[in-house]
Amino acid sequence: ASLLGRNTFRVAARAGMLVDVRKPAALGELFDYAALRTQPLLVLGEGSNILFTRDWPGVVLAIAAHGVRVLDDGGDHARVRVEAGEPWNDFVHWSLAHGYVGLENLVLIPGTVGAAPIQNIGAYGTEVREFIVAVEAWDRHARQLARLDNVACAFGYRDSVFKRERDRYVVTAVEFELARERPLRLDYAGVREELAAMGVDEPRAPAVAEAIARIRTRKLPNPALIGNAGSFFKNPLVDPALADALGQAHPALPAWPAGAQSKLSAAWLIETCGFKGLREGDAGVSDRHALVLVNHGHATGAELWALAERVRAGVRERFGVELEAEPLVV
Ligand code: EPU
Repeated sequence: ASLLGRNTFRVAARAGMLVDVRKPAALGELFDYAALRTQPLLVLGEGSNILFTRDWPGVVLAIAAHGVRVLDDGGDHARVRVEAGEPWNDFVHWSLAHGYVGLENLVLIPGTVGAAPIQNIGAYGTEVREFIVAVEAWDRHARQLARLDNVACAFGYRDSVFKRERDRYVVTAVEFELARERPLRLDYAGVREELAAMGVDEPRAPAVAEAIARIRTRKLPNPALIGNAGSFFKNPLVDPALADALGQAHPALPAWPAGAQSKLSAAWLIETCGFKGLREGDAGVSDRHALVLVNHGHATGAELWALAERVRAGVRERFGVELEAEPLVV
């Protein structure tokens, strides 16, 4: 089966077998099939955070279950259960249309609701972990549905137990707690300026979503127009001593405190090495945002990965900083 239309990098990889799962209740039965027990398994949402450098020899599962259900509406807070196949951005708009506040900063992030906890999606000063009560997942070890509460999900920056134990869990649904009143997060660079440019003085959540959608549309290449998987590298977490030394040498390098470590702007490191807009055949570094690799047409996954390696080597040589890929690289 072709995976060309199933990954936003638009790489022409293939899978041994492709299964769309509409009813997660059927997962138990599905995993009884020999093919699913013996062959390597990959779970795919919208394929917006994956790079195939080769074909997938086994089974690819896509969770296609849909639905948003309010479990408990306590007035100022509600618990909402969303099936894994629901597109993330649709759910953000559902929450805004129903008067909830909080998800506006996460507007326009590609991918499904089921994928959101796996890498703890985040943008503009917010991470999805702040809203997740629990994640329901098929546990392939215990061979049953499991419900992991927020702590058990072990969320970190672009990280969770689901990412670390990819072969164990298949996320089937996510339970959120949404508030009707909550302070807006406007402090991320550019958000207030965008609201001012829109002529909004007293913003509410839908206006913040609109401002962030505008910023994203300007800054990030649209995967519908040019193949990409968003940020290709994580912002590196480094020792504060190294961050200080780099900051002395390069005062323009953006850096933020991150717990006991410092987070550096990978985009700045890459751009400063001169890689922004670089192109090798059809594999490129976006000329809009240095963190994003793009497929200008028919790049293979291996070509995109070779370019990523070149970028990593350049940043390592110049700054002594190791960049880590953010999407899953197969
Ligand atoms: N910058 C550059 N060159 C560029 C782009 C940005 O030097 O080409 C500098 C900017 O000047 C800015 C800094 O890098 O000071 C940060 O840029 P930006 O606000 O675009 O955020 P980012 O750190 O590069 C992260 C997330 C994005 C998320 C934005 C906004 C990661 C890996 N990426 O990018 O998430 O949208 O913040 O919150 O953490 C994704 O995960 O796929 C993704 C797009």
